[in-house]
Amino acid sequence: MHFQWYPGHMTKARRQMQEDIKLIDLVIELVDARIPLSSRNPDIDQLGKQKARLILMNKADLANEEQTRQWTEFFQNQGYFVVKLDARTKAGMKKVNDVIMEACREKIERDRKRGIKNRPVRAMVVGIPNVGKSTFINTYAGKACAKTGNKPGVTKGKQWIKLNKNVELLDTPGILWPKFEDQQVGLYLALIGSIKDEILNIDELSLKLIQILKENYSGILTERYSAAEEGEAPEILRQIAENRNCVKKGNELDYSKAAALVLDEFRSGRLGKITLEFPGEQR
Ligand code: G4P
Repeated sequence: MHFQWYPGHMTKARRQMQEDIKLIDLVIELVDARIPLSSRNPDIDQLGKQKARLILMNKADLANEEQTRQWTEFFQNQGYFVVKLDARTKAGMKKVNDVIMEACREKIERDRKRGIKNRPVRAMVVGIPNVGKSTFINTYAGKACAKTGNKPGVTKGKQWIKLNKNVELLDTPGILWPKFEDQQVGLYLALIGSIKDEILNIDELSLKLIQILKENYSGILTERYSAAEEGEAPEILRQIAENRNCVKKGNELDYSKAAALVLDEFRSGRLGKITLEFPGEQR
């Protein structure tokens, strides 16, 4: 399956991010907990070097808990601070605050030694489209998001959201482009619904999903669709179409309807908490 790659305004956005990053102490990078590597762009490591780094494993409500734990360890071993999150709820935000302070402890200590007291930590949110950046900013900032801009020392026009006395957040997130040129990345992004379905072959995509589920989440297809998992993916899809009564005019099985159904149930979490990418299988 081939995915098109549209560079669009990439260069401009990258240059903007380079400028923004100069103003901050901490990069808050959101990834999708179901595909923690494929939903990153490693360029951020270059752009954000010298800065404190926090990875938020977002949409953790949709991901396998054991895999999220392993990915957390994986990133922590590389020196990132990590918090798993469902950005739609307030529940994880206290933890995010605590970890931000921990990640910026050195900076705070440095300020203190120089006699600078109470200078808030400045952060910006980055991530590929659809990982939940706006949702996170809205939930995290809540109603209390007093905007502060054009203060001395702040580049004109920059808007900062004062989250509390310790943290200020740049109000516009930095958008990173996924590594579309990697076909596996394209596949994973398509599976989680980050690429418009209109440009995809839904039947083929659902067969890939069925294959991944069959190999890594044994029993799940039998449980939800009463499909025997011994067969090849097309046979499993046929059984799903049959058991879910996906039929066209003339009583013919409607594979595309079954394919869309499986994808939809996966994306919405109805199939269960499913991580597609595993720390051991790095490319
Ligand atoms: P972006 O700024 O990074 O592009 O992402 P955005 O916040 O717009 O979020 C993209 C979609 O992901 C939204 O759904 C949002 O509700 C959902 N989302 C964000 N965080 C989480 C999370 O932790 N868990 C789950 N399950 N979903 C999350 P949408 O369908 O596009 O919009 P809506 O119908 O929910 O408003």
